[in-house]
Amino acid sequence: MNWIAISLLFHLIGVGMIFTLLFAGPIIEANFRWENDLRMKQHSAKLLRSVGLLSPFGALVLILSGIANMIVLNIGFANLFGSAGWLGLKILAFIVLLVIGMVVSPRTARQRAILLDQMNQINPPEDINEKTAALNSKQTLFFVLNWVLVVIILILTMMGTR
Ligand code: HEM
Repeated sequence: MNWIAISLLFHLIGVGMIFTLLFAGPIIEANFRWENDLRMKQHSAKLLRSVGLLSPFGALVLILSGIANMIVLNIGFANLFGSAGWLGLKILAFIVLLVIGMVVSPRTARQRAILLDQMNQINPPEDINEKTAALNSKQTLFFVLNWVLVVIILILTMMGTR
């Protein structure tokens, strides 16, 4: 059995899942920003959060297949600080990506959903537009950071892959 081919196949499926998010996220976000109708805006915000649910599954597939790659290629934990330093850095970048994608970004999305609900009220808070703009900028920053981190991860992989 060609174990490395199998674990790399699963790894690439995980990579595909992450790339789906990297493209779909900004596209749905653009729909959210351009939409003037409040109900449609809420719909886009909900869609963005549902698509984001793919990230824990993608992350799980990447971690499990990444560990399988390490086992098959005989890369031990200690190597992460030596001969496989590229992989150590890659895992570090991956952890940052994970924290943004699973903790920081969903929190911003939740805060935005609350603001959207408030827009529906008869007397919305005065600073609601400023607050929404601030959360939109945060979201843009996360999209850019996600791309930068994934490109760094890919460069590190190219440096390390034999
Ligand atoms: C966003 C996250 C990640 C991306 C985009 C990514 C991408 C890739 C790509 C494109 C390859 C080359 C596949 C091939 O040769 O066909 C690869 C290989 C590999 N990845 Fe990842 N990966 C990610 C996360 C991880 C994680 C979390 C681990 C460890 C737990 C890991 C461990 C490995 C190993 C050991 C290899 C094999 C390297 C070799 O052939 O020498 N990866 N990765």
